[in-house]
Amino acid sequence: MSLELSTEAPEAPENAVDGMWLECIECGETFAPFEAVRYTCDDCDSLLEVRYSNLPTWDDFDGDGVWRYSAALPFDDAVSIPEGSTPLHYVPRLEKGVGVNRLRIKHEGMNPTGSFKDRGMTVGVTVARELGVDRLACASTGNTSAALAAYGSRAGLETLVLLPEGKVAAGKIAQAALHDARILEVDGNFDECLDIVQELAARGEAYLLNSLNPFRLEGQKTIGLEILEEFRQDHGRYPDRIVLPVGNAGNTAALYKAFRELVQAGALHPRDVPKLTGVQAEGAAPMVEAIENDADEVRRWEEVETKATAIRIGNPVNAPKALPGIRETNGTAVAVSDDAITSAQRALAKEGIGVEPASAASVAGLQKLVNRGVVDEDEDVVCLTTGHLLKDPDAAFEAGNEPEPVPNDTDEVLSHLEGQSTGRGGILKRLLGR
Ligand code: F0G
Repeated sequence: MSLELSTEAPEAPENAVDGMWLECIECGETFAPFEAVRYTCDDCDSLLEVRYSNLPTWDDFDGDGVWRYSAALPFDDAVSIPEGSTPLHYVPRLEKGVGVNRLRIKHEGMNPTGSFKDRGMTVGVTVARELGVDRLACASTGNTSAALAAYGSRAGLETLVLLPEGKVAAGKIAQAALHDARILEVDGNFDECLDIVQELAARGEAYLLNSLNPFRLEGQKTIGLEILEEFRQDHGRYPDRIVLPVGNAGNTAALYKAFRELVQAGALHPRDVPKLTGVQAEGAAPMVEAIENDADEVRRWEEVETKATAIRIGNPVNAPKALPGIRETNGTAVAVSDDAITSAQRALAKEGIGVEPASAASVAGLQKLVNRGVVDEDEDVVCLTTGHLLKDPDAAFEAGNEPEPVPNDTDEVLSHLEGQSTGRGGILKRLLGR
């Protein structure tokens, strides 16, 4: 497989267009980028990657958001809302609590539709427009459907989303509905929805915008580029490790590709590549199983369950790209319980950072690895939080405080508060000089 960290830039094959082509990660077959709709290799059906003969360095990046990195993307101009430039939060108390030298939180919930999917969709939907397709489709645990609906609407294209019935958080369905997607609820899990969408795409019924689509991952590379640039600006070095939640393993694959391309361009020393560390929920952890067993392939889990519904996935389709990413960067993978996810969600919320359960898995995983001594207390770590708190209001209610009914009367409200021992009233009174 040609996915290792190599310092050599690839040479363009004859079918490259403007120094860009698609290449099979298994057999190396190459294809012109936009000559036909294609998601996998015609010869061996393996995953495709977008390749470039000209790889940019830091000086080639200019502007804001995802399109700051257009030199590393297939286009300059796009269907954009816009997306990217998300905050890299300092979390001093959480950093101390977890026990690492430095912890920053890259909050992807601050994208236009509230998740990192917008970075992939701005590129993917632009490709769809280039190809001239008229219907877009995806299977989704929710966030992809919200992003596809918004970007599809922005581009004036029809969108179709297939969701596992009863397993998608309320905020995400609300987004898909209002952004005018046709929502098909399937009596099955996410992996089965993806099987159906792949068949619809193969029959030419719709253009597939799941992360199997190699162009989507191009946009998601920019998460890694932003983290490296900002961390270096703030701390004069790159983070030792990036910890991220894993479902289909698209982000793991995309960050690894971003780092490989920087190394090939001479913009990043191989020893400075952060260790990619994936976190899954215990009830849906096929990638963790493969890493722990040193397996070449991931076994599809037919039964999956977790309250982190965004990563309730048993068949991570990007595993052939992501497994080498974790291994080549000396990273690892770990599974966490739903209770640990909720604790991490609360700990982030106490720092003012509101995330959905799947996002909190990154912090829960980091804590587990620190406790086990796998992650050193000297390390500088960035945790990726992938989706906003409001995506899953039910999970937030469950993890947070209960609303307290009070009478419509100030004195009664005060006596209710005095009946509670929160201590907050005392501090407020002192501040007010009473
Ligand atoms: N976190 C959130 C909030 C997600 O929505 C997803 C994936 C992931 C993490 C996992 O990312 O697939 O790149 O490993 N959600 C997809 C969806 C499957 O349909 O919204 P990955």
